[in-house]
Amino acid sequence: MATKKIFSGVQPSGNLHLGNYIGAIKNFVNLQNEGNECIFCVVDLHAITVKQDPKILKQNIRETAATFIASGINPKKSIIFNQSSVSAHSQASWLLSCVARMGWLNRMTQFKEKAGKDKEKASVGLYIYPVLMAADILLYDATHVPVGEDQKQHLELARDISKKFNTDFNAADFFKIPEPLIQKNFARIMSLKDGTKKMSKSDPSDLSRINLTDTENEIINKIKKAKTDTNPFPTSIDNLKSRPEIENLIGIYSSLSGTKIEDLLNKFKGQNFSLFKEDLSELLIKKISPISKEINKLNKDISFIDQVLKEGSEKANELSSKKIEDIKKKFGF
Ligand code: AMP
Ligand code: TRP
Repeated sequence: MATKKIFSGVQPSGNLHLGNYIGAIKNFVNLQNEGNECIFCVVDLHAITVKQDPKILKQNIRETAATFIASGINPKKSIIFNQSSVSAHSQASWLLSCVARMGWLNRMTQFKEKAGKDKEKASVGLYIYPVLMAADILLYDATHVPVGEDQKQHLELARDISKKFNTDFNAADFFKIPEPLIQKNFARIMSLKDGTKKMSKSDPSDLSRINLTDTENEIINKIKKAKTDTNPFPTSIDNLKSRPEIENLIGIYSSLSGTKIEDLLNKFKGQNFSLFKEDLSELLIKKISPISKEINKLNKDISFIDQVLKEGSEKANELSSKKIEDIKKKFGF
């Protein structure tokens, strides 16, 4: 099978959680291990679309790179770098913002959610965020982009920009049309406190998420406190539809263990939720604790992380500098 060219990014905004892991990072590792050509980017330029403390941002850039490595991304096989260290991203973003249409950006639901009621006060960067994301992907001729469900619309925009550019400049195939890789199941991990809200870095309640740096006791405590209901353990998939918190917990279990939902329903049927929760905590500790221990270790080895990012940036610079020149030529520069 032909290898895919993979590009994906994660924002260094702290608190990387189980949703990021199951929805995105776990798949990055699988794609790498299948032998694809992979580039994973710490998208620090995206992070500054909302105000950041410079000192904390710097720590978070390193911690995000550490999380990639701790989760199984091997810097010898994949390129790991941070976006701001490769100038082609900012340049391509400007050039592509002259191709993207206002009408397309006005449809972006993430902007509407993040800007909230007072969108006049949102940064212009937050508005054109998806154009920078398209630049990230198109600069490297990525063919496939693994992301969680929430990024699907942004990926469609990247495809639209790519097609319009190729048409406007009469340059078929100049940009690839990237395919989203979104898992069929568990592409949206929900909050432990409210099964209708996605698990998020920015939720004020830390009990709503399992952070990848949580200790074993924190994991046990959060699962114990995770919202359930007083009804018995569900017996059929249909039964899950109206119980989003339960569906989410069973989904997490299924995804991390590789067990089918039907088999889990059979295994726990007639049992008390506390037993399921104990098993789930054990599974989470088995899967997450080795990662969190490795993150903590790597967090102390700043020179190693900085070296990985430096080498990754050099490779990314090499790949993108030719493409940015070609893009500029198309405009007539
Ligand atoms: P972000 O932290 O927003 O940069 O997201 C990094 C990656 O994690 C993206 O591919 C997101 O789609 C994915 N992601 C974030 N939150 C969730 C979630 N609750 N469930 C599944 N995937 C998620
Ligand atoms: N917008 C993505 C998110 O918030 C992160 C991102 C930036 C990205 N550039 C990308 C993802 C390019 C995939 C490809 O999750």
